[in-house]
Amino acid sequence: MDAAQWDERYRAAPGGVWAAEPPAVAQQITAALRPGTAIDVATGDGRTAAWLAGRGWTCTGVDFSAEALALAAARPGGDAVTWVHGDVHEWEPAAPVDLVVSCYLHLPDSTAAVARMTEWVAPGGALVVIGHDVDNIAAGGHGPSDPTILYTPDLLRSALDDRFHIARCERITRTSADAELRGGHAAAAVDTLLYAVRVA
Ligand SMILES: C[S@@+](CC[C@H](N)C(=O)[O-])C[C@H]1O[C@@H](n2cnc3c(N)ncnc32)[C@H](O)[C@@H]1O
Repeated sequence: MDAAQWDERYRAAPGGVWAAEPPAVAQQITAALRPGTAIDVATGDGRTAAWLAGRGWTCTGVDFSAEALALAAARPGGDAVTWVHGDVHEWEPAAPVDLVVSCYLHLPDSTAAVARMTEWVAPGGALVVIGHDVDNIAAGGHGPSDPTILYTPDLLRSALDDRFHIARCERITRTSADAELRGGHAAAAVDTLLYAVRVA
């Protein structure tokens, strides 16, 4: 989907598209980190960026959908985040940050996109990437059905170089209680999780 198609999807859902809170595993991992500077890549209507800002992070939320960013800015806590209209293929932060998080950004060139994100992580900082795993198709979980844009642990691992220590890179199952959509969904879903720390 291009930016215009995403704009259309957000325009059709003035109450927001995605769940009110970040994925549970993103909450668990980031809650254990000392708050600093953060970027939420492809922030959508801003659930993860606003959650982080509410926990003391100085957070920037980036998305190429202006409609998404309008919803994000209007959400509770939205005024605590810096919202930036940008494409992950081109945008760059002014300086590396302590945490880069990306949830459910699915692109034909995901490996290259995640490799770009690694450049935004400061030494000692963390990278957290979560997305639909290719196994989610067979599992029948909510999410895209095009395997060429879905993740695997190998795909995410291949985006890293030896500056990063991989703390977790694995398939995880998300229950319906941890739904991606604002309105929820019934079935469990299979995600890929990458949690890596920049050590050099
Ligand atoms: C499935 S939504 C996930 C939103 C949010 N991360 C969340 O989990 O609630 C994917 C988001 O990626 C954004 N996106 C897709 N391609 C992008 C690109 N090339 N640059 C920036 N944002 C992009 C879309 O506008 C959309 O908001």
